[in-house]
Amino acid sequence: MKNNRIVILGMGTVGTGFVNTYHLNQEIIEGKLGGPLNITRVLVGKAGKRRSVDLPKDLYTEDFEALDLENTDLVVELMGGVEPAFTYLKAALKKKCHVVTANKELMAKKGAELIGLADEMGVLLRYEASVGGGIPLITTINDGMASNKVVKMMGILNGTTNFILTKMTRDRLSYEEALGQAQDLGFAEADPTADVEGFDAAYKLAILSKDAFGVIPDPEEITRQGIREISLEDIEYGLELGYKIKLLALGEKKNAHVELSVQPALISVDHPIASVNQEFNALFIEGNSLGEIMLYGKGAGGMATGSAVMTDVMEVFINGRKYVGSCKEKNMPVNNIGLSPYYVRMEVLDSPGVLGQIAMIFGDYGISLDSVVQRARGLEIAPLVFITHDVVRDKLNRALREIEGKDYVVKIQSIIKVVR
Ligand SMILES: NC(=O)c1ccc[n+]([C@@H]2O[C@H](COP(=O)([O-])OP(=O)(O)OC[C@H]3O[C@@H](n4cnc5c(N)ncnc54)[C@H](OP(=O)(O)O)[C@@H]3O)[C@@H](O)[C@H]2O)c1
Repeated sequence: MKNNRIVILGMGTVGTGFVNTYHLNQEIIEGKLGGPLNITRVLVGKAGKRRSVDLPKDLYTEDFEALDLENTDLVVELMGGVEPAFTYLKAALKKKCHVVTANKELMAKKGAELIGLADEMGVLLRYEASVGGGIPLITTINDGMASNKVVKMMGILNGTTNFILTKMTRDRLSYEEALGQAQDLGFAEADPTADVEGFDAAYKLAILSKDAFGVIPDPEEITRQGIREISLEDIEYGLELGYKIKLLALGEKKNAHVELSVQPALISVDHPIASVNQEFNALFIEGNSLGEIMLYGKGAGGMATGSAVMTDVMEVFINGRKYVGSCKEKNMPVNNIGLSPYYVRMEVLDSPGVLGQIAMIFGDYGISLDSVVQRARGLEIAPLVFITHDVVRDKLNRALREIEGKDYVVKIQSIIKVVR
């Protein structure tokens, strides 16, 4: 362990941030480590590529077999994707190398297997940077809150979608215009699907569920809805009613199941998470002894994420210990059947009595209404917005199917969960 020999798999945005963090804070890091970090090899796709990082050229290789894992203490994985990262990390763990990774997709899909293998081999696997970039979420849940039972989590875990929704809310840009700006500024990929459809946030929520609740879900089990359907009308009605729309990752431990979802939701403008704007991330956590806390910061970016990776590496070399870990319950069902208020926007014929008839159908299903906004435009068709009291989504869907079948209803435009 004293040689601090590491190999790095991947030298892109995060790899560069990791090495540049080392160079920025070399004195502090080496002082704490008691010596230098020895980067012995770097695996990349194209060894000859120009990179904005100061490393000797002969460290780079395209050949995993050239890494000399026998003489490596720790492997830092910053390549991304499930394969070949999964195969490489299994090989590294079997050679008794510690592992630090920032790979959310890999940890969400194969984390349990990798952690099991690390335990079997008596080495450490740390993954702080896989959720929330530079924000110490995993360490806080596992170590800082080790004496607590985590009851609830609510997170803004994807910077791209938060940037888009902020632009729509503040500047009244359309979804397409806000996405274009995010792409121009490098906050969104050319293909934004993983972000805007909620896959990225669902992977992160799956990892947090393991640490917070001891329940390891298949990411596919997480109820997931993206932000493509959110319109400026919804943003504006939401504000009028005292809410902002955010893509929220929600987790709650119930007695016999865990509720996990990623979806756009209306949240009161007074809630601290509603003030998390632009590309920033936050996680609001409730512990049964501690109460509520919120962690906020940069959920992505080379330097922020690289700094979290470096902290994990230092933790392995200095303390050599696992996360304390939270509850170890397994095999609890994951679903999303809980009660919630909902925002519903529809277009109806602008004629007398329509509101009363729709309210009556809601009443027939036992759904009571918290607020109603009715705005006559002097046109044939008018918008109608409701916020319900708590209701199970299935029951709401059944009521809305009946309402949509009426000839005075043109279209149900949006159904969005409300979080208080
Ligand atoms: N970017 C962020 O802000 C951020 C934040 C949190 C977590 N993460 C996670 O961190 C990881 C790295 O992300 P990134 O943004 O740094 O990615 P990136 O910029 O695309 O860099 C990926 C690196 O991996 C190398 N690579 C990819 N496939 C390879 C293969 N099959 N064999 C060898 N090398 C390969 C690439 O080589 P070449 O350079 O030669 O192409 C590149 O150096 C991902 O798991 C990501 O989810 C990223």
